[in-house]
Amino acid sequence: MSTEETPAVKTYPVAPRLQATPTPHIGPDLDAYRAAHKGSVGEGSDEWWGEKARELLYWDRPFKTIRSGGFATGDIAWFPEGGLNVSYNAVDRWAFEDPDRIAIIYEADEPDGGCSITYGELLRQVSSLANVLSTTFGVRPGDTVSIYLPTTWHAAVALLACARIGAIHSVVFAGFSAEALRDRINDCQSRVLITCDEGRRGGKAIATKAIADAALEACHGIVEHVLVLKRTGGKINWTEGRDRWWDEEMAKVPKYCPPRVMSAEDPLFILYTSGSTGKPKGVVHTSGGYALCAALTVKYVFDVHKGDRFACMADVGWITGHTYIVYGPLLNGVTTLMFESTPVYPTPARYWEVVAKHKLTQFYNSPTAIRLLRRLGAHHVEPHDLSSLRVLGSVGEPINPEAWEWYHEHAGRGQCAIVDTFWQTETGSIVLTPFPGAVPTKPGSATVAFFGHEPVILDAMSGTPLEGNNVEGVLALGTPWPSIARTIWRDHARYLDTYMKPYPGLFYTGDGAARDEDGYIWIKGRVDDVINVSGHRLSTAEIESALIMHKGVAETAVIGTADELTGQAVYSFVTLKPEFSYDSGNEAGLVKELVLQVRKVIGPFAAPKKIYIVPDLPKTRSGKIMRRIMRKIVAGEGDQLGDLSTIAEPSTVDAIKQKVAEGNA
Ligand code: WTA
Repeated sequence: MSTEETPAVKTYPVAPRLQATPTPHIGPDLDAYRAAHKGSVGEGSDEWWGEKARELLYWDRPFKTIRSGGFATGDIAWFPEGGLNVSYNAVDRWAFEDPDRIAIIYEADEPDGGCSITYGELLRQVSSLANVLSTTFGVRPGDTVSIYLPTTWHAAVALLACARIGAIHSVVFAGFSAEALRDRINDCQSRVLITCDEGRRGGKAIATKAIADAALEACHGIVEHVLVLKRTGGKINWTEGRDRWWDEEMAKVPKYCPPRVMSAEDPLFILYTSGSTGKPKGVVHTSGGYALCAALTVKYVFDVHKGDRFACMADVGWITGHTYIVYGPLLNGVTTLMFESTPVYPTPARYWEVVAKHKLTQFYNSPTAIRLLRRLGAHHVEPHDLSSLRVLGSVGEPINPEAWEWYHEHAGRGQCAIVDTFWQTETGSIVLTPFPGAVPTKPGSATVAFFGHEPVILDAMSGTPLEGNNVEGVLALGTPWPSIARTIWRDHARYLDTYMKPYPGLFYTGDGAARDEDGYIWIKGRVDDVINVSGHRLSTAEIESALIMHKGVAETAVIGTADELTGQAVYSFVTLKPEFSYDSGNEAGLVKELVLQVRKVIGPFAAPKKIYIVPDLPKTRSGKIMRRIMRKIVAGEGDQLGDLSTIAEPSTVDAIKQKVAEGNA
C-alpha cells in the first residue's frame, strides 16, 4: 500500500548548539549517523554491544555470551553470564569518584520546597533503605516491593534500594485508584509497600496513604509492611504493627549496604501497562540489558556530557520516569531533576523558571504539556534565560508540527535540537529518534532508528514487509535489543501472543507508521484498542470493564477520539439495563456517577471526557460491537460510514448520531 503524497514539510538542519562545544557524540551529519548505526546491527554487532556494555557499565562478573534466544522462542537473554548491580552502577561509581556532585535536584510542588541530593548522600540514602528492606522487613532477592509514591527524590531512592538488594520493584503511578493499586499488588504478591502520607500536586493534597489503606484492605493480608514517607505531615490512619515511618526506620540501620551482584538477566522491575484486554500487563525488565540501553540512550539521544543537568518532566510512575528520570541519567553520572508539580503551577512559567534556576541542559517532556503551554501563550516563556538548554525531547504521543515548531522557537529559541523519541514500556528505552548532532529533523517525525534497531513497516493484513520509501502500515522491530521486556509477569503466553505471534520473527509494536520519501519514520498512533490520553496509555477494554461494574450499565463501548489538547480523549457509549430506573430528566447526574466509577476503578486520569447514554449499540449480526462507526460519528464523519451491510440494526446508527449532535450543541 502506498501513502498519499506527504504534504511538504520543513526540514531543520542540525541545531546550532549541537554544532558547538561540547562536540556531539555522533555528528555532524546523516552519514556519521549511518556509519555509527551500522556497527550496532547485523553481523559483527555482538562486538559493538560487548564494547558498549563494558564502556557504560561496571560488571562484577564478566559476560562471555553477548546474546542468545529470539522472538520466536521467547527466550531472549543478553550478557547471560554477566553479573552486576544496577544501583552500584547508578550511584556508587560516582559517589566514590566525586561525592559532592549533585545527583538529584528535587523540584517540589511548592516552588521553594525542593532540595538537592549529592551522589554521596544518595549512596547513604539508598544503602539505608536497602538495609531497612532487607534486615527490618526481610525482603530477599527476587521478592517484589510495590511503590506508590509521588515524584519526590525518595522515589528514586526506593527504586535504587530495591535494585541494590536484588528485589524487584513494582511502581504504581500515584494517580491510580485504590482498586488499581490492589490489583497490581495482588498480581505481583508484594509483602512490602512503600508510600507516603499525602501527595501534593498543583497546590492540592492527595490522600495517598488513605488510597493505599483502601487498596490493602482488599489485598488479603499479602502486604505485611508499609513504609510511610512523611511528605506533608497531614493526618492519616495508622495500622500498628504494619505501618512504619520512613525516617524512623532509616535512622535505625547502618548507612552502607553492600550491593548484591545480580545476574544480567535477573528482573530489575515490573511495570504494569495497559494492553488490549481489561487486565493490565506486568511488563518485566531485566538488569543488564535494561541498564545498558537506559545509559546508552541518555548518552546518545540527549547527547549528554559530564556536568550536564538533565530534566525529564515525567512522573516516576511511568516507564519514562523509570528510564529517563532515574536509571538513564544516574547511570551516566550526571544530575537528574525530579519534578513533582504541574506545568502550570503556580503559573505557566514554572517549567522555564526551573530551567533557568538550575541551568538545565536537556529537557524532556510530553506533547500534551507543550500544547497546553502553547495555548497559554509565549509571554510565559520569553522572560526566562534558557540559554543553558541544548536538547529538547518529546515523548509519549505523536507531536503535531505546530507544537513542535512552538517548542523549537520558544523553548529552544531556534538554537536547540528537538528529539521526538518513539518507544514503549515494553521496549524499555528509545527506539526511534533523531541523533541531535547528526540527523536533520522534520516536525512530527521520530525520524530514524536508534542503535540496535531495525524497524520494519508491514502491511497489516498480509504481514508483508513494505520495502522502500513512501509506504504506510504497522510498525514492527526486526531484532531483539538489550532492553526489550523479557516477559509479562506470570503470563509468558500473553507476552508471546501480544508481541511475537502477530508477525512471526518480529516484535509487534501495535502502532501504525509510515516511511516518507527520505526514509524517515512517522508514527501514526495505535492501531489496537489502546488509547493515549496526554501520553497516558489506557486500554478501552479496561475502561469498559470499569463502567460495566456500575449497577445500571448493560453494555458499553469506549473509543479514543482526537483531542486538540490531550492528543486523544476517552468517549464512551453506554446502554442501560431495562430494569434500571433512574430520573431521565437528570441524565447529567447519571453521567457523573459513571465518570466517578471510572475514577474509582482506574484513576482520575482515565475519566471519560464524554459519556453518551444510548438505547442500543451498533453491532454486527454476530453481536460484535462496531466501534468504527462510533469513532466516525464522533469525528464528524457520520456521513462517511462506509459499508454498513454487516450491521444488525441500522436504526442504532441514527440514534447515536442524534445523541452526539445533541451533545455537541
Ligand atoms: C506512543 C511511553 C508517537 C505509541 C514511552 C506507543 C508515541 C505508546 C511516541 C507507548 C512518539 C510513544 N510519537 N507516539 N514519539 N512515543 N508513543 O508504553 O503509541 O506509555 O505505542 O511508553 O505511546 O506508551 P508507553
